Amino acid sequence: MTDPQTAIDAEADARAATERDPRVADRTAGEVQEGIPFIGAGPGDPGLLTVTGRELVEAADLVVHAGSLVNSDLLTEYCADAEQVSSIGKDLEALVPLMRDAYEEGREVVRLHSGDPAIYGAAVEQMDALEHEGVPTYVVPGVTSAFAASATLRTQLTLNGVANHVAFTRPQGKTLDPEEDHIGEFVGMGDVTTCLYLGTHAVAETMDRLIDAGHDPDIPVTVVYHASWPDEDVIEGTIATIGDRLDEAGYRASAMVVIGDAARKAGYERSYLYDGFANGDEPADSQQEADD
Ligand SMILES: C[S@@+](CC[C@H](N)C(=O)[O-])C[C@H]1O[C@@H](n2cnc3c(N)ncnc32)[C@H](O)[C@@H]1O
Repeated sequence: MTDPQTAIDAEADARAATERDPRVADRTAGEVQEGIPFIGAGPGDPGLLTVTGRELVEAADLVVHAGSLVNSDLLTEYCADAEQVSSIGKDLEALVPLMRDAYEEGREVVRLHSGDPAIYGAAVEQMDALEHEGVPTYVVPGVTSAFAASATLRTQLTLNGVANHVAFTRPQGKTLDPEEDHIGEFVGMGDVTTCLYLGTHAVAETMDRLIDAGHDPDIPVTVVYHASWPDEDVIEGTIATIGDRLDEAGYRASAMVVIGDAARKAGYERSYLYDGFANGDEPADSQQEADD
């Protein structure tokens, strides 16, 4: 097998040197394609896996999944008879030949990521390494945990008059340098709902940094632990209080931290879509533009 980093570099060079991958134009998202699907398992509840994802998982002989981030109920319900392998603790050098060999033996292989593979999924490097080995891959999207948290909170992440933008981000730490941490900038913009992935263990220090940088300590922060799981929990606070509240609750992982008023549905305004536009006032350029 080619060393994974060499394979990743070679795939990047090939992309730079050639026209766009013809599959981008020839295939649509959601279409079952040749190769190993990288499937978004959704946030946890088996019902939040897409129909296509479920059909592929049910037909699989080998399911490589993201360990405890994928609800074991989903594996029990949809692929109890398949070989199931957790990717936790396995590097590319182990994962790539495992999937390649099974695929080349004619077995149905699926790679199950939590939420949607597009968000902090580290899927592309696996896909590149597999493609370099001659194994085609594609993505089947899923419900990212920020969307599940929004549903739990019965709100919207964009909310007219409150939040015009959403940031999916993560705090600084072992894999993100302080200068790459933009949480303070998103919060400072005022009309952004900031969704922190991979930050449950670092909420208190993240909030301290925001306070040190002069942000309003009363800005709401809402934490949704295990959104869509049976033990789902919601902790509410502010930049000043959420660290202590989360410490008391004892959650150190698997939570979505939502900074901003949208989580509370506070102070929003009626949208143009169901007001002026619906009444035939000055037409919006497109329905899409009025969709907030
Ligand atoms: C490695 S990232 C993967 C994110 C995933 N690809 C997604 O789209 O949700 C793991 C982080 O996602 C968040 N997360 C995943 N599942 C969650 C859930 N059910 N409820 C809340 N947060 C979750 C947590 O912040 C966790 O630290």
